[in-house]
Amino acid sequence: MDKREIVVSGIRSTGVLHLGNYFGAMRNYLRMQDDFTCFFFIADWHALTTHPDTKELSASVHRVLAEYLASGLDPAKVTLYAQSEIPEIAELYLLLNMLAYKGELEKTASFKDKGRQHPENINAGLLTYPVLMASDIMVHRAVKVPVGKDQEQHLEMTRNFAQRFNHRYGVDVFPEPYAFNFGENLLKVPSLDGAGKMSKSENQMATLYLNDEDDMIRKKVMKAKTDGGPTEPHSAKPDYIENLFQLMRLVSAPDTVRVFEEAFDQANIRYGDMKKQLGEDMVRFISPIREKARDLEKNKEYLHRVMEEGTQKARASAAATLSEVKKAMHLNYR
Ligand code: TYM
Repeated sequence: MDKREIVVSGIRSTGVLHLGNYFGAMRNYLRMQDDFTCFFFIADWHALTTHPDTKELSASVHRVLAEYLASGLDPAKVTLYAQSEIPEIAELYLLLNMLAYKGELEKTASFKDKGRQHPENINAGLLTYPVLMASDIMVHRAVKVPVGKDQEQHLEMTRNFAQRFNHRYGVDVFPEPYAFNFGENLLKVPSLDGAGKMSKSENQMATLYLNDEDDMIRKKVMKAKTDGGPTEPHSAKPDYIENLFQLMRLVSAPDTVRVFEEAFDQANIRYGDMKKQLGEDMVRFISPIREKARDLEKNKEYLHRVMEEGTQKARASAAATLSEVKKAMHLNYR
């Protein structure tokens, strides 16, 4: 039997993936695929909490899958599937809902944020979003969950639900899962406008998507907020400048970053040059993924096959957990 640690993570099918998704989540998926038992999925039920229109859903799910594969996930090593194809997740979600309190759900930061963004659609699915996410993780009894900083609170809630279940039913069915980023702090990839993080829906000109054309990438980077530069050596960086450096550290060679760090420190940095360099390095990073994803997206037969195999493996793992859960809860009548 496979004794490696179990890893689960997912990305919502709410649009094209961006650099935040890549560096917050996907980069770790890639680093983990050789050494762990990995389940990576497309969170299409979670997408419905904020995107009730399903006309584009199937295309979005295929696109995320194509982007997973284009980034380098290998279906021979990891299990890839769409959340809605695993009914055991919904079953566990129902059971965990009895252990989740309205008060704690209402206090969740993501619930408050999304409620502010969609005041006309504050539905029960949005309120119980963390319970569904806990079910995604717990259904495979995962211990490591590679995610960005914005998901940390959801992981804390998942640990609470796992503990509560074990305590209430007196059996250690669930281990406690932790957000994971290879010994480093969880990542928050900043947006290009100097305000907040990159996100799929907010300010599209400040977000670099994995399917942006080369000229669009250059244009977005050149528009990033800067100023006249430091007036004296050894100045502190304003946030929006630190953000640019942070983006550069993700995609540029260390020597390149060092040159601009020194120029800033000596108060003779030219932000135009820095942004030109960053734009080129972003193009070099994004364009091969974009092209591969586009090819893969057309190959529906291959995508279906990957999903079919992944679904089977994921359901086998999920069914084994549900059987333990039902035994622990005495939900066995025959
Ligand atoms: P989603 O689709 O919002 O984001 C997917 C992943 O991308 C990370 N991320 C970022 N990381 C760093 N900087 C950013 N600017 C940035 N923007 C997004 C997110 O942290 C996430 O890791 N709730 C999840 C989906 C989910 C899930 C799960 C994840 C559902 N069930 C179970 C792990 C395990 C979400 O909203 O993803």
